Amino acid sequence: MTLLQTPRLNLRELDKNDAPLLLAVLTDPDFLRNVGDRGVHTEEDARRYIIDGPLAMYHQHRFGMYKVELKDGTAIGLCGLVKRDGLDDVDIGFAFLPAYRGQGYAFEAAEAVMHYGRETIGLKRIVAIAQPTNEASVNLLRKLGLHAEKTIKLPKDDEELLLMAWSAAENRTPQEQG
Ligand SMILES: CC(C)(COP(=O)(O)OP(=O)(O)OC[C@H]1O[C@@H](n2cnc3c(N)ncnc32)[C@H](O)[C@@H]1OP(=O)(O)O)[C@@H](O)C(=O)NCCC(=O)NCCS
Repeated sequence: MTLLQTPRLNLRELDKNDAPLLLAVLTDPDFLRNVGDRGVHTEEDARRYIIDGPLAMYHQHRFGMYKVELKDGTAIGLCGLVKRDGLDDVDIGFAFLPAYRGQGYAFEAAEAVMHYGRETIGLKRIVAIAQPTNEASVNLLRKLGLHAEKTIKLPKDDEELLLMAWSAAENRTPQEQG
C-alpha cells in the first residue's frame, strides 16, 4: 500500500521482500562512512534488520522508515521517521542509492515525510542527527527547515554528531502567532 505520494515518488512501508534494497543501501560505502555499520552483510541479515527495526517500529509507533520508489516501482532509497534510544524527539532519516542522488529525490521524499510527521502524526518537533562533515545530509536538512542546535553523542557511540531540529513553535505563521 502506498503511504505517501509526491510528483515523482511513492513511499511505502517496508516488508521482508525488501531485503535486497536494505542490503544495497546499508552496505553502500557512503552509508558506512556517514552513518555506520548496522551489521547487515547478507540478505538474511537484512531480513532480520527489517523485522527488528522498521516492522517493529510501525507496530510500536505510527511511523517508521519507508521504502522510496520511482513511479515505475524502482526502489531508490529509504526515508522516514525513527524513534531511537538516546533521543527524546522523533528524528527524520534518509539514505538513497548512489545512482539516485543529486536529483532532488531525497528532498522530495523527506519533504513528504516532514509533512506526514507534522500533519498526520502531530509532531511538534522533528530532529535529525548527522555527522557534521556529511554536507549532503546537512544541506538537505537545512532545506527542510531544520537548524543546527548542538553536538551530541548517542549511547554506545563515541562520535560527536550534529543535532538539527525543526519546531512548530519556531515556525508559526504570523496569523498563528496572533
Ligand atoms: C544524504 C543524501 C540522502 C542526500 O541526497 P541528495 O540527492 O544529495 O539530496 P537532494 O534530494 O537534496 O538533492 C541534492 C541536489 O539535487 C539537485 N537537483 C537536481 N534535480 C533536482 C530537482 N528536480 N529538484 C530538486 N533538486 C534537484 C539539486 O541541485 C540539489 O542540490 P542543492 O541543494 O545543492 O541545490 C544522500 O547523499 C545519501 O543517501 N547519502 C548516504 C547516506 C547518508 O549519509 N544519509 C544521511 C545520514 S544523516
